[in-house]
Amino acid sequence: MATTRRVFVSGGSGDLGAAVVADLAAAGHRVWFQYGSDERHAADLAARHGATPVRADYSDLAALSDDDLLPPGVEVDVLVCCAGVNPAAATVHETALSVLRHTLSVNLESAFRLTQRCLPAMLAAGWGRIVYLNSVFGTVAGPLNSSYNIAKAATHGLCRSVVADYPGSGVTANEVVAGPVRSRMLARIVADRAAAADVTAVRERLARRVPARRLAEPDDVAAAVRFLVSEDAGYVTGSTVTVDGGMLSVG
Ligand SMILES: NC(=O)c1ccc[n+]([C@@H]2O[C@H](COP(=O)([O-])OP(=O)(O)OC[C@H]3O[C@@H](n4cnc5c(N)ncnc54)[C@H](OP(=O)(O)O)[C@@H]3O)[C@@H](O)[C@H]2O)c1
Repeated sequence: MATTRRVFVSGGSGDLGAAVVADLAAAGHRVWFQYGSDERHAADLAARHGATPVRADYSDLAALSDDDLLPPGVEVDVLVCCAGVNPAAATVHETALSVLRHTLSVNLESAFRLTQRCLPAMLAAGWGRIVYLNSVFGTVAGPLNSSYNIAKAATHGLCRSVVADYPGSGVTANEVVAGPVRSRMLARIVADRAAAADVTAVRERLARRVPARRLAEPDDVAAAVRFLVSEDAGYVTGSTVTVDGGMLSVG
């Protein structure tokens, strides 16, 4: 029988995070998940999957104690960082410093602090799995999106740093690089960039840029996370699993 692990998913109330919560709970793991604001949605998700919600606002990590990140006494074997924002489009010189700071805080700083919070127990146990939800925009820059591009490129560095700092520890760190996923985040970006009537056309145009000729579903991403946190993936660390339908492979 597979070992039951204790799992924490940040951004578990988001579309990708919720797919990860559902998938790992269905596999029999004990799951805690963070949400930012949508209490009713979080309660529904918790009830459906027997998971435990943890509310935390990642806008200002300095204001949060370790006990705000994960409840006191809760230690986990698996950390999946999915919390993120992808703010409205602007060129570099038009991007307010406050937007950059907020994007770094929610996407990067939360992952850094959660890694710090979860590592000691993983190291003591000699077993741990950390997965960072990253984006193709950590590899290639999306236009009008500097704060997100910067946050995602830095997440790549965080993942590698964990690998470098804890050799022989039994703790792995990997990232899943997603292309466009059918999700609320993508819907918001598309809506921002297109007149309402054009949303379907914009989405179809986007799918045509992907060699797989479709957007990813959240479950496509959850399947990659499932492998990386599995017992079988013990020798997989510092890896980027790209779930982009081939997008980064073509010009
Ligand atoms: N969707 C895509 O196409 C795509 C592609 C590549 C990579 N990604 C990455 O995948 C991850 C998940 O994306 P998604 O599509 O699931 O996004 P989403 O549906 O918008 O979910 C974002 C999650 O982050 C939380 N969050 C946002 N602002 C927060 C704040 N200030 N404090 C605390 N939590 C906050 C949200 O919580 P509440 O809703 O409860 O506030 C939610 O759980 C992100 O890191 C994203 O960059 C997404």
